[in-house]
Parts: sequence; structure tokens; C-alpha cells
Amino acid sequence: LANTFQGDGEPLIASLALSGIAFSATYSMIRWLGPTFMKAGLKGVDMSKHHKKEIPECMGGICAIVYLMVVIVFVPFPFYKDIVAATSGGGNRDVVLHVEHVEQGRFLHRFPHSKLASYLSAIISLQSIALLGIGDDLFDIRWRHKLFIPAFASIPLLVVYFVDFGVTSIVVPLPLRPYLGELLNVGFLYYAYMCAIAIFSPNSINILAGINGIEVTQSIVIAVLLALNDCLYLFTPYPHPATDSHLFSLYFLLPFLGVSFALLCHNWYPAKVFVGDTYCYFAGMVFVVVSILGHFSKTLVLLLIPQIFNFIYSAPQLFGLIPCPRHRLPKFNARTGLLEPSVTPWTPERQPKPPIAWALHLLHKLKLLRVTTDKEGKFVSTTNFTILNLWLVWRGPLKENRLAMEITAMQTVVGLFGLFVRHKLALLVFKE
Ligand code: UD1
Ligand code: MG
Repeated sequence: LANTFQGDGEPLIASLALSGIAFSATYSMIRWLGPTFMKAGLKGVDMSKHHKKEIPECMGGICAIVYLMVVIVFVPFPFYKDIVAATSGGGNRDVVLHVEHVEQGRFLHRFPHSKLASYLSAIISLQSIALLGIGDDLFDIRWRHKLFIPAFASIPLLVVYFVDFGVTSIVVPLPLRPYLGELLNVGFLYYAYMCAIAIFSPNSINILAGINGIEVTQSIVIAVLLALNDCLYLFTPYPHPATDSHLFSLYFLLPFLGVSFALLCHNWYPAKVFVGDTYCYFAGMVFVVVSILGHFSKTLVLLLIPQIFNFIYSAPQLFGLIPCPRHRLPKFNARTGLLEPSVTPWTPERQPKPPIAWALHLLHKLKLLRVTTDKEGKFVSTTNFTILNLWLVWRGPLKENRLAMEITAMQTVVGLFGLFVRHKLALLVFKE
């Protein structure tokens, strides 16, 4: 294996070690700080339990802070050879990585400032999202305002992308090439697209939520699959031009996995803590950071398919066509101890407008919704539009941990299929 490894392996070992430290620090800090968070008012009721007791919320804040400290401590590691070379005035061929030119037998060294800029901009973005996420957990920012929180956090990334990489053209699929050519420059639209991903990813994780552990397990699956994708580029028999950006991605994903597994230990059913919006935003932004700066944002889109489905499915409620209650999480049936789909109630006075009523009936026929009507055909209730409720419509009532496991398994299968599409099928569409 070591023979086929491309790139500089030593910083990766440091990153693994720091991720282990991040795991243990997060694990114990969540235990210690739980009561402190409760005292500060950061708590929530676990709604799907017999005894509705309050537990600490916003524990993602601890993850974010430990994570940031670890990636900051890590900054010198990927650069140590460059730092040594820069301070020793060059000369040593083993040490100098970025040789600019050879002058009188000396290798002049050029420090990779752009690599450092990517690194620092990633940290700034993640720091901003952590700040804003904690703000949201403290003050419950309005929905339409928090939608744009990640757009601000993505600015440093987009600037570095512009200065450093600047590619705004996309490869055209084979059937369209006669009309559009091989590459299509979409210019500033490419930045709009990246900004849209930055808004989408964190929010989509936040709305696929509401049962113990699900926010963390979906994030872990996405992070593991992204890391797997990175490894495909690192362990090749030949050097790949993208080696450096995939190493960069691993440096950010490994500590994220460290803090996430620690959080999962406390948040898995029956949860002892809640993750809070901070974790959801932070996780989503970690994916955005690595995929934009690693130049594989389309791969991220493939891994977010369940989240994209959940968002599209949620759209009628998110955009107000159908009333959206504050919480849409599945309903706990205290008698059976199982989760059932939660519903939006309709009264005889307040019925959906005819086209919407028609659409609701159609969705019911397609088994994409459960509609209950009274004898006169008036709407009594419709299930809430989330993938968790839909899953319960399909599978019947389930225990909370069972539902979380099934959704996580689905995320894994869909994600693996996404990677397969990326690596095998894409060749058919894009290469001759
Ligand atoms: C999002 C969802 C909302 C869902 C909520 C659950 C949208 C538009 N918003 O809102 O429908 O109900 O997440 O997280 O889709 N909770 C549990 N068990 C859990 C996790 C959370 O009971 O396993 C409850 C707790 O009371 C907790 C609260 O949900 O305090 C957290 O909700 P919050 O993250 O503030 O909701 P939003 O992200 O605004
Ligand atoms: Mg939330």
C-alpha cells in the first residue's frame, strides 16, 4: 500500500493523531459541559420518549470549537518541509518541494502561499459558520434569515477559488458537444452555483433531523464517503494531478470524523444530548469547504442525493403552499412506543385550494404521502413532507433507533451509488 501512496504521508499521520485527540477531547468535554449548557438555558425536550425530559442542546458547539482548535494546531504540518526550506535558504534537494529555479547550483525555494491561503480561508469559513450557528441556537434566528447564513461564510472560499483556481467552465456531456463544444464557460454562474451549494448543504442537513442520532450519522456517512473518494486519488499506481487537493480534503475530514463520532456516542438513541443547529451547519460547511477547495463540488452533490430529495419533497411546506408547523419530526405513539408519521391537520373551514387538493390526492395515490379524509371527502390531515415521515408511511411505525439505522443505511447505499456514478458512469457521458 505504501508503495502506491501518492503525496506526502507524514502530515496525514499527524492529522490522524490529532483526530484521535479531537475524539477524546470532544467525548469528555460533552460529558463535563452538559450541566453547564443546561444552566445557560441551552436545553431541549426529547419529544419521542415516554419521559419527556430536558437534555443539553447545542453540543455541536463543542465539536466546532475542538475541531477548529485541532485544524489550527495542524496548520504548520503540511508546510513543515516548505518552512524548513524557506528558512534554511534552500539548497537541500530532499527538503525543497516547490523549486522555482536553480541558481548557481542552489535550489531557490518558493513557499506555496496559495496552498496556505486555501487552508486559512477554509478555517475562516468554518469559524464564521460556527459563530452564526451558535447564534442561531441561542436566539432562534428566523428561517428566512438563517437560509443565508452560509452564503456569508462561503465568501472567503470563493475569493480563494477565484484567485487560485478560477476555472468556471464545465465539461459538456458527449451528446451536447456538437452544439456547445467540449468545454462551456459559464462564468459568474459558476460562483452562483458554488454559493448555492454552500447555502444548500448546511440547511439540508438541518432539515433532515428530529430523531436521535440522524444529524450525526448522515454527516458521518457523507464524510466517510468523501474520504473514500479522496483515497481513490491518493492510492493510485501513478501520480494524479489532484493528489494535493485530496490530501487537503482529508486533513479537514479526519478531525471532523473524530469530533462527530464523539458526539454520536452521546447523541445516539436514547440521546443524552442534542446536537443543535451549530452541528448541522458546521457539518454542511465542512463538506462545502473540502469540495470547493478540492474542486470536486459535483461529487458532493451526488453524495447529498437523500438531502436533495428531502429538500424538494419539503418544498411545499418550506415555501408555504401547505402549512408548516414549527416541528415536523415523526410523532411518538406513547402506547406502542413507536414513531408514526406526523401530520398537518386540516379543519372543515381551512381546506387546501382545489389544485393543491388535487396534487395531494395524486401524491397519496403514488404512495408519496398519506392523506386522511372524512366521509364528505374533506381533508382531515396530511403527513408532513419529510423523508423521515415518508419512510414511516412506507414501512409502517418503527422504533426511533430502527428508523435512524434504516435512513443511515439508505444514505450509505445511495452515496456509494453516487461514487460509482462519479467514477464509472461519468466516463461514458464525458469521455469518448
Ligand atoms: C428542523 C426542522 C423541524 C424539525 C427539527 C428537529 C424543518 C423546516 N425544520 O427545525 O421540522 O422538527 O429540525 O430537529 O424541517 N428534537 C427531538 N429529538 C431529536 C432531535 C431534536 O425531540 O432527536 C427536538 C428537541 O426538542 C430539540 C429540537 O428538536 O430541542 C431542536 O429543533 P431545532 O434544531 O431548533 O429545529 P430546526 O432546526 O429549526
Ligand atoms: Mg436543527
